[in-house]
Amino acid sequence: MKNKRVLCVVGTRPEAIKMAPVILALQKQEWADVQVLATAQHRQMLDQVLAVFGIVPDYDLDIMRSNQGLTELTARLLVALDKILAKASPDIVLAQGDTTTVMTTSLACFYRQISFGHVEAGLRTGNIYNPFPEEMNRVVASHLSAMHFAPTTSAKENLLRENISADCVYVTGNTVIDALLETARQDFAIGIDLDAAKQLILLTSHRRENFGAPMRDTFTAMLELVERNDTVELLYPVHPNPNVTRPAYEILGGHSRIHLVEPLGYTQFVQAMKQAYLIISDSGGVQEEAPALGKPVLVLREETERPEAVAAGVVRLVGTNQSLIISEAEKLLTDKEYYRSMARGVSPYGDGKAAARIVSIIKNRDC
Ligand code: UD1
Ligand code: UDP
Repeated sequence: MKNKRVLCVVGTRPEAIKMAPVILALQKQEWADVQVLATAQHRQMLDQVLAVFGIVPDYDLDIMRSNQGLTELTARLLVALDKILAKASPDIVLAQGDTTTVMTTSLACFYRQISFGHVEAGLRTGNIYNPFPEEMNRVVASHLSAMHFAPTTSAKENLLRENISADCVYVTGNTVIDALLETARQDFAIGIDLDAAKQLILLTSHRRENFGAPMRDTFTAMLELVERNDTVELLYPVHPNPNVTRPAYEILGGHSRIHLVEPLGYTQFVQAMKQAYLIISDSGGVQEEAPALGKPVLVLREETERPEAVAAGVVRLVGTNQSLIISEAEKLLTDKEYYRSMARGVSPYGDGKAAARIVSIIKNRDC
């Protein structure tokens, strides 16, 4: 008998990737009446992922506007979410991560006194402006959650330090590894004409705190890196935020060994990570996935809420300092021993069974 109504909320690309294993596992449970709400904070990039995993939303708020601001996005989301909560009347709502969709979902649930379960709970840098606004989004979500699915023990410890009751915190691993292992089992065509003889550098960049000069510095460093090293080819699926596309095409466009492309589908992107020699990124999810695939990552940030892979020595923080980006990348391109030390294949974020653990906890909890 379906006796628990579970509403799963997704808004952006990474939320859909990380919620997909949970949604698919819940859909197999005879006790769960599962519905999916897409806020569509991202439109094209969300649809891309939902299609890959065969997930069809029951509700779609179609919220995205071009170059949306945080305040208006938050306000529109909160009002729209409340209408669906009133209509669907779920017993429990699940959402993943630290986007505006997640923060507003937790708040909308609080106002209606509906249990909120937070997937990927407890990540912290301790700096509310870095990453911005994600650090505060996840703090707010944590304090409005009934259940916290922490990916690692250090994430759990962060929550306990904020006086969140240990009874509601579960270390499950990160569902991103569930999605990754399932996807990486097969090979896919990336659909881009890459030179197999070159060392492929895969770049992603989208963080709000890097908009403007830091992002331009990163792109200038990438251009110099490619120009100085003719063994290298750069693949950059450009995030569609206009604050990213403008400088990306202006600085990196028109170079024969630089491929600027639209966001890749998840299967193509996983394939690109598999084929990459080195990954340079400010993405949260990529910092979790690449180590599991044995790929070194240089992170374009000053601090990270994902310290485990840094501690393991397979991810290095380089910020947006041009000379540091270039010197660290060149060391990896030329020093084989150094490269091997960072390409060890460790998976501190999960074992591919996080979704099963989350589903079992929800089943057994009186939430
Ligand atoms: C958002 C999240 C960020 C997450 C990232 C994942 C917030 C505040 N930010 O950042 O935490 O790491 O998603 O990618 O929640 N756009 C499109 N098509 C799309 C997606 C975005 O055109 O499919 C453009 C639109 O102009 C949109 C803009 O990108 O207004 C920004 O989208 P938004 O979700 O506000 O911020 P992101 O930078 O994508
Ligand atoms: N990704 C993708 N296509 C791309 C770039 C990234 O499918 O062109 C995937 C990637 O594998 C990871 C997720 O998107 O799972 C990361 O999303 P993003 O960097 O946008 O957000 P963040 O993780 O920083 O919140």
